[in-house]
Amino acid sequence: MNLTVIDHPLARHSMTVLRDASTGPRDFRNAAKRLTYALVMEATKRIPLEKFEIETPLEKTAGYAVGDVVAVAVLRAGLGMLDAVLELVPDVKVGFAGVQRDEETALPQEYYAKMPPMEKASVLVLEPMLATGGSLSWACSKVKESGATDVTALCVVTSPDGVTQMYKDHPDVHIVAASHDRELNDKFYIVPGLGDMGDRLFGTL
Ligand code: URA
Repeated sequence: MNLTVIDHPLARHSMTVLRDASTGPRDFRNAAKRLTYALVMEATKRIPLEKFEIETPLEKTAGYAVGDVVAVAVLRAGLGMLDAVLELVPDVKVGFAGVQRDEETALPQEYYAKMPPMEKASVLVLEPMLATGGSLSWACSKVKESGATDVTALCVVTSPDGVTQMYKDHPDVHIVAASHDRELNDKFYIVPGLGDMGDRLFGTL
């Protein structure tokens, strides 16, 4: 299975704030940030560490520094997860991937991409809502074209269809999520879900 769903009381609390239709943009943004802390801790559990010697005031001991990490925010909802990553991951480099659905073909269409070098990095793709899987799959292809070989996706909510699509397209990409929800509705929204993540983050409802 390519999916880990975190199970933590604080994450459940934040998920509840996000799901609640009465939550306004300020509390929604705070909850998204707090939830992302938990996702980042899980997703970075196995990133490479450099070991070296340091001196405490008392004696020499081992010190550690995390290796290269790149975060790629899928626009625009991925921006709601970015602050937490910037706070937690030292010297993280950041890419942006803009994708929209082509109205005629329904295929993902790029409108913006800017990637840092990522050949040797642990790459975290920030895509909060894994619905059909189209945009996350496209973003993972994009980071692989840029040289990424170690890719983890951070999602707030996943759907069964999205996880299946990702397993088909990118079986090597691990997904860390806060909830795996029941299904997609006929408009491709995740249910029970939390609505449109971008609209709720930025107040564009
Ligand atoms: N994107 C969202 O923001 N919400 C969904 O439920 C599905 C895709």
